[in-house]
Amino acid sequence: MNIEQLKQLAKRRGFFWQSDEIYGGLSGFYVYGHLGLLLKHKWENVWRKYFLSLDENFFEIETPDIMSEDVFKASGHVESFVDPICICSRCKNVERADQLLEDVLGENFEGKSPEELLKLIKKHNIKCPKCGGSLKEAGELNMMFPLTVGVGQLSKAYLRPETAQGAYVNFRQIFEIMRRKLPLGLAIIGKAFRNEISPRQLLLRTREFSQAELQIFFDPQTINQHKRWDEIKNYRLIISTAKSKKIVKMKSDDVVKKCNLPKMYVYYMARVQEFYLNILKIPENKFRFKELSEEEKAFYNKYHWDIELKFNSTGKFSEIAGIHYRTSHDLERHEKASGVKQTISIDKKKFIPHVIELSFGVDRNIFALLDFSFRETRNQIIMSFPPALSPIDVAVFPLVNRDRLPEKASEIYRHINKTFVSFYDSSGSIGRRYARQDEIGTPFCVTIDRQTLEDNTVTLRDRDTTVQIRIKVDDIEKTINDIIDGKIMFRKAGKVVYEPKD
Ligand code: GAP
Repeated sequence: MNIEQLKQLAKRRGFFWQSDEIYGGLSGFYVYGHLGLLLKHKWENVWRKYFLSLDENFFEIETPDIMSEDVFKASGHVESFVDPICICSRCKNVERADQLLEDVLGENFEGKSPEELLKLIKKHNIKCPKCGGSLKEAGELNMMFPLTVGVGQLSKAYLRPETAQGAYVNFRQIFEIMRRKLPLGLAIIGKAFRNEISPRQLLLRTREFSQAELQIFFDPQTINQHKRWDEIKNYRLIISTAKSKKIVKMKSDDVVKKCNLPKMYVYYMARVQEFYLNILKIPENKFRFKELSEEEKAFYNKYHWDIELKFNSTGKFSEIAGIHYRTSHDLERHEKASGVKQTISIDKKKFIPHVIELSFGVDRNIFALLDFSFRETRNQIIMSFPPALSPIDVAVFPLVNRDRLPEKASEIYRHINKTFVSFYDSSGSIGRRYARQDEIGTPFCVTIDRQTLEDNTVTLRDRDTTVQIRIKVDDIEKTINDIIDGKIMFRKAGKVVYEPKD
């Protein structure tokens, strides 16, 4: 499978496509069709449920996409949120210098200065990819979209480049509301905007995207502990350090000692890995934590490990999330710039809380779900989404369009649609209808046949195996929920009435 096949499926079936296509497309912006949006909502809900339940003092908030220039001057984004660029002397095409080098040489050059990058471009005789002209250094470009707000007296503002700042500038207020307790977790799921120089690889690098970020505020003196450490101390993390770059499995306890990381940080690494392997069902050999070197780390981070997945469509590991120890960087700078105290007092101890940030790109995760679910088998495409994440949970079909079957089928559909995202289809042969649902990843199909009218039972079909079982109409919801929750195996949930030959 390659990225082109994924792009075609995404468009044909209504997952996503480039925006403003009737005007030739706007690079770096995407539309989610109904199936894509259902998938995105499912992913966000699974994320919400998992991460907010890690601690009773974790909450979700929503803050504006547009924030004042003051916020980003204080946070350091106005000064430091920049990418190195080079420009073609002939056609004036602008390229992101580190990415161009990565494309040609297949290595990561993030964090190198524009001068170093230009030296490498000259050394390897790399030319403008558009016209073959020679490239010169053009410095750095700030990635934020600037705006003016209001009429008359205008205020300078930016579209936020990360959701995180919304949590920082509201920390003090929420800390008071939530009865002054630490750790305090503030989650935001929302849009972020970056004027990327070279948007690429569909949803992997766009100019408008969604993030799901959790900021965990804590007392810095507690960083070497976590109340639930024992639950994960023997859990084996899949890591690749900046030094060795080899992928190894190591117990959390050993990661603390060998990688010199605090227990609280490693605790969240373990929870994030569990999320990917257990909930999103990513195969172990496609997952790794990658430590960033000093020069690759974001300007606000003391510890910075990315979560990377090896995509089937590109054959390469790409970043989809990160765990960042931002220390008191943001709160301290907001205290200084705004004059509003972020220093708190707990048990007579005064300090500025530190932050561990769990930061996920939602669109990259959606892309990963599509990539990992794509199968070509039975002469067609099958999207094998984990059942809890499939855009549509259940499809309902009358076997034929006569003998009162459509009436009975639509009655059942209306009923189960109250519990599950359901889809009713009565057009075309039953085989064609199954195939259509397989291609969009619907894990279960319910078929109403003549026997349904006699004994109130239906067939339930499993997308991945095509096995069908017979169950009672009254048991449809419970059976599906039990299968999704892993409480029962599909074959054991009813009488097997169809089994493929091979
Ligand atoms: N608050 C920290 C932060 O924003 P980041 O590493 O710059 O950190 C976090 O971004 C995540 O957001 C990344 O791991 C990635 O999944 C996603 N992301 C970043 N830039 C993106 C882009 N241009 N298009 C799509 N997703 C992006």
